Amino acid sequence: MSCVERLQITGGVRLTGSVRINGAKNAILPLLAGSLLSEKSVVLEGVPSLIDVKTMKEALESLGVRVNWRGDTMQIDPSGISSLEVPPTLARRMRASNLVMGPLLGRCGRFKVSYPGGCTIGSRPMDLHLKGFKAFGAVIEDNHGCIAAAAAGLQGADIHLDFPSVGATENIMMAATLAQGTTIIRNAAREPEIVELQNFLNKLGARIQGAGLDTIRIDGVKKLDQEISHRVIPDRIETGTFMVAAAITRGEVLINNVIPEHIEAVTAKLRETGVSIIEEDERVIVAVPSNWKAVDIRTMPFPGFPTDMQPQMMVFLSLAQGTSIITENIFENRFRHVGELRRMGAQIRLEGRSAVITGVPALTGTVVEATDLRAGAALVLGGLVAENTTSIEGVEHLDRGYENFESRLRMLGAQICREPI
Ligand code: EPZ
Repeated sequence: MSCVERLQITGGVRLTGSVRINGAKNAILPLLAGSLLSEKSVVLEGVPSLIDVKTMKEALESLGVRVNWRGDTMQIDPSGISSLEVPPTLARRMRASNLVMGPLLGRCGRFKVSYPGGCTIGSRPMDLHLKGFKAFGAVIEDNHGCIAAAAAGLQGADIHLDFPSVGATENIMMAATLAQGTTIIRNAAREPEIVELQNFLNKLGARIQGAGLDTIRIDGVKKLDQEISHRVIPDRIETGTFMVAAAITRGEVLINNVIPEHIEAVTAKLRETGVSIIEEDERVIVAVPSNWKAVDIRTMPFPGFPTDMQPQMMVFLSLAQGTSIITENIFENRFRHVGELRRMGAQIRLEGRSAVITGVPALTGTVVEATDLRAGAALVLGGLVAENTTSIEGVEHLDRGYENFESRLRMLGAQICREPI
């Protein structure tokens, strides 16, 4: 039983030095699920040590897949799939466990997965995933406790997504690799993680083109039997989080292992506030000359401003000169961090899907609670610059998506430590 912990942060230190970005959580999870499509073993490198990765490993093992994880390298042997049902306890622990649906349907013609349920940021329906599976000819049983699907061979289809859902694009793309004939996904998600999944599946022997654009074509093949190794792309949201950490503390940080075009919308918005960002090949240098200006943000599907950076930018703008408006267009309930930031002295008013943030001179440390992964990250960023000490509970949320977050911030000078409650 892991003990309950909290982070203690004493604010006021300018972050300086360099940090290296880990492999992307939202890329490694679909790649792990996609490994189910292969008949040969797959080696993944650059795997971050995250709770969500551990959960996905357990989900694969529950299906009979052998997974050997040493350091940042994971070897997956999907040759012995012996079950087509992810245990409910695992499915409820992480929404992304639903990413095994497409591969199981493609490879084995059926699956049974519990509804992951809503989480704190929204109801997280799966109607678009199921729309794709039905288009392939699958019969779906959806009793809202769990979803089961069966198909006697998938037929390629022309599928239009009502919304460019990342997970639905990934699930449909994976199932289509082994369907008969051609599948077209229209209004597809364009996130870098979709391109990464295409590259990974094509290395396995799939025939996919168009990822990164709004229309993806998949020509089904009989099997995926290439034995491969693949290094996962760096985490663009972790990159953005460290960029804001440097900016909010008026520090100067060199961030290594970055793909600048993956984080362009955040870079552009930070520059709009007055932050100086120098982009080199695989690194960015962030520095803040003085105070920063208020700006407006609307979260959008890629290449728009990423919803996963909304909480982090909100805490940054709570100390800007002027009033900013952040409109959250992706999730219907992603303002749970507002109450906690108000407790630190932020002036934020909610109006439907928009948050109106009036800059204040300083935040004040207190006891706050992380309600989800990115909200937790935002509270850490606030604690780095708040007067006095900030105690952050709900640290398990942070560990889902940030590896050794506090020790890497300490390397940059932050006064932060983890302690049992
Ligand atoms: C992925 O979630 C990410 N997670 C999320 O990151 C990210 O916020 C999200 O994409 C948007 O970029 C992973 O990749 C593991 P969606 P996903 O399907 O795929 C609605 C983080 O902090 N929708 O693009 O679940 C949905 O309700 C996490 O790292 C439907 O209506 O997101 C939401 O409003 C949080 N029907 C919108 O689309 C569906 O069938 C975007 O969801 C599917 C989605």
